Amino acid sequence: MSAIVVIGGQWGDEGKGRVVDLLAEKAHIVARYSAGNNAGHTVINELGEFALHLVPAGIFYPDKVCVIGNGVVIDPPDLLKEIEDLESRGVSVRGRLFVSDRAHVLMPWHRLIDQLDEKLRGKGAIGTTGRGVGPAFVDKVARAGVRVADLIEPESFLQLLSFLIPYKNAVLEKLYDTPGLALEDVRAEYAEYGERLAPFVADTSVLVQDALAAGETVLLEGAQGALLDLDIGTYEFVTSSVPSSLAAGAAIGIGIGPTQIGTVLGVYKAYNTRVGNGPMPTELLDATGDMLREGGPRPEYGATTGRPRRCGWFDAVAARYSARANGLTAAALTRLDVLDRLPAIKVCTAYRVGGRVMATMPASSLDLARAEPVYQEFPGWNTDTSSVRRFEDLPAAAQSYVRYIQEALATPLCLVSVGPEREQAIRLKHII
Ligand code: IMP
Repeated sequence: MSAIVVIGGQWGDEGKGRVVDLLAEKAHIVARYSAGNNAGHTVINELGEFALHLVPAGIFYPDKVCVIGNGVVIDPPDLLKEIEDLESRGVSVRGRLFVSDRAHVLMPWHRLIDQLDEKLRGKGAIGTTGRGVGPAFVDKVARAGVRVADLIEPESFLQLLSFLIPYKNAVLEKLYDTPGLALEDVRAEYAEYGERLAPFVADTSVLVQDALAAGETVLLEGAQGALLDLDIGTYEFVTSSVPSSLAAGAAIGIGIGPTQIGTVLGVYKAYNTRVGNGPMPTELLDATGDMLREGGPRPEYGATTGRPRRCGWFDAVAARYSARANGLTAAALTRLDVLDRLPAIKVCTAYRVGGRVMATMPASSLDLARAEPVYQEFPGWNTDTSSVRRFEDLPAAAQSYVRYIQEALATPLCLVSVGPEREQAIRLKHII
């Protein structure tokens, strides 16, 4: 059996957690392979509402193995809090949640530097989640990171800190004019986290490879979205994950080869949202934008920071661009029901930049910032779709809209969601 990757096709928050939660039923392992606790998945089930930042959404199925892969950055206090919250609400975690010994650890200076750096950038601020994830990936690439294997090994941890603390303190004091950190305080606090995390630590690539060799299904869940990717996203307003959250990053971030990935499923929202700064050609700063943000059963506020999401029409240029960059073999469309009450719905089919009409995304952030969307308008359906379970039961206008998006993505849709509950979905094709 090969692995299935689920990625976000826009700027994150497309509902990957919801799709993974549905697919997890048939998987043996559900794994995260990139990013850190900047990501946020909201899952609603019979136990209540959960905002997961590091633990894969498969955790709610008691027979699934969940893996946090080598490509993820772990924030130990946050991960431990998430584990405690799950356990206190009746979700078993021990013996089926495994954290890669090669994953990097988010250290206290990363969060500090993230926030100080945003201030230093002034008008050029990225609008990060402030969790420290960017600086942690910078340190990974700069070969100045701490890995889980070091965190749980007291001697190796002390040795690393003896080098890193004076180094990072110089940066904090000289560049950011901020007091440095005391080695012993950091060591004591993080050594305790290390002890508590040790039972979860494993060489997770072996776990995943063994499962694949045994014919099991492995579900790899991406974080954020393709348009926030360091390479193909709207640079510099992107996230810093290495490997990226694109489908191609999944193999690296979990420790398998690209030939072991068989299915790439892209998740798209029926409109667009973005949190943080950076260009978003279809953004609506009017009552329709407010309606998209507030009109659905789950208003559009960031799962990690609570920031209001910027909302706008579906951008088919960006969607096609990300579908191709990920080599999608299937797609899911979420939150169709949020459009139920709109009299008309627009889709951006091209950008007008200066005198040119562009059918793909420009690399220059200035060009993207001044891109004017060329819209195609669709009639609304003014019907509640939240209880629809079969495509043919959708109003004709909604069917046309969904078909149009499928054509724009040039990828078969396997699922359309019409509400936040697990069963509020129209399944078009089974991919597992
Ligand atoms: P960072 O990942 O915290 O460095 O933030 C970089 C950019 O990515 C900012 O625009 C964030 O708002 C955005 N971002 C990071 N994680 C997520 C996510 O899970 N969903 C949506 N946007 C995100």
